[in-house]
Amino acid sequence: MKFHIQTWGCQMNDHDGEKLSGLLSVDGFEEVASPEEADLILLNTCSIREKAVHKVYSELGRLRAEKERRPLLVGVTGCLAQQEQAALFKRAPHIDFVLGTMALRQLPRLVAEAQAGRARVIDTGEYPDNHLFPPSVTRRHDSAKAMITITEGCNHACTYCIVPTTRGVERHRPFQDVLAEARGLVERGYREVELLGQNVNSYAGGCTFADLLERVAEIEGLEWIRFTTSHPMNFTRELAQVLVTNPKVVPFLHLPVQSGSDRILKRMLREYTVEEYLERLGYLGAARERMTLSTDFIVGFPGETDEDFEATLALLNTVGFEGSFSFVYSPRPGTPSLRLKDDLPMTVKAERLSRLQKRQTQLTRAANERFLGREIPVRVETRGPNDHGWWLGRSAEWKTIHLVTGPGRELPFGELIQAKVTVASPHFLGAEPV
Ligand code: SAH
Ligand code: SF4
Ligand code: F3S
Repeated sequence: MKFHIQTWGCQMNDHDGEKLSGLLSVDGFEEVASPEEADLILLNTCSIREKAVHKVYSELGRLRAEKERRPLLVGVTGCLAQQEQAALFKRAPHIDFVLGTMALRQLPRLVAEAQAGRARVIDTGEYPDNHLFPPSVTRRHDSAKAMITITEGCNHACTYCIVPTTRGVERHRPFQDVLAEARGLVERGYREVELLGQNVNSYAGGCTFADLLERVAEIEGLEWIRFTTSHPMNFTRELAQVLVTNPKVVPFLHLPVQSGSDRILKRMLREYTVEEYLERLGYLGAARERMTLSTDFIVGFPGETDEDFEATLALLNTVGFEGSFSFVYSPRPGTPSLRLKDDLPMTVKAERLSRLQKRQTQLTRAANERFLGREIPVRVETRGPNDHGWWLGRSAEWKTIHLVTGPGRELPFGELIQAKVTVASPHFLGAEPV
């Protein structure tokens, strides 16, 4: 049996895909790169915004036609599976099984039942040990960075957000398990790990998140530690301290702010004011200057006035974020913000988004230009051989680096090399290995 997994969404979903792939591989299934070759296709879905959901339904439509042509099993996993549960079968009757986000280890059973000819197999139960997934099973993508789940679920209740519904309440992995997994990864040759959670800094698996970072950093041979993602209200002085002093923790902080207007933040139930957000950034002290800060914005939240939006632009300028993800507000089923009046025309929302993104591009360009002429450590992310004359890498700040070598020269996959930055654009840096 050959399987293919198509994943949408965040790093957590991506990593869940690696866990699902491991479960099937252990059972003797073979992973293939193209859906055309597969006897089993998993759609590992995201439902953070309507557009993400549309992509899933459109792929499901394509697979319906394919199922008429040849034998094929189709399973839906991930956040849309958890959100819609059995209702998915009504919308797309050709789905063979549905697996929720908190029942990952039930996958082999569901596949076996579907193979045996049972229709509409489903498990969207909340297994209390889902977050204790055995690392030995996980089948990682071919990447220089390894992801590690430290916490699943979210205890916040932002009024626009589907994640508390799709991922449940917080569950934390004991820090001993996290350390054991990280050590194992380093033994297998990884030099970089990324700690994952819907909100890593509320971590409570026997120590604080700041402590956990320090402990992971003690592992010999490990070079860089990243984490994603963080809620501002759980960003402590202790964590800021580790971030600026521990040389293995990369100088990069993604701290989603969503809006620069207190009135909107309140309607979003973000639990902070702009001033409190800025106070949190202040914990970084003077070290902030050498850190890369990035954020998320939602534009056109119900009730957002011109004034509110201008406040968001002003905040973008005040902080000078080096990067941001920004989207127009998308109403999600069952979320409290559905009850708010949302009468702003889409054209206005789109225009606001475009203004925000234009300004962001300028800031990113300026931030990247400050790297020009500098020698920086870059992790090589292309696995050779490569005869294009350039290789892909990442800096500690997670900037995309085009390493220009000229044809014929090999670079060591996964290793850090020094490179001199010669080109700066908003989307990448060009650099020459030294
Ligand atoms: N746990 C993270 C966010 C995960 S969702 C945090 O709180 O920081 C990633 C981003 O998607 C959010 O930061 C938000 O900007 C965006 N997002 C979430 N729900 C959305 C919605 N209904 N409409 C538009 N953007 C949304
Ligand atoms: Fe969603 Fe808010 Fe939780 Fe982030 S903190 S996952 S935005 S509810
Ligand atoms: Fe999407 Fe679920 Fe992640 S909704 S962003 S896949 S937690």
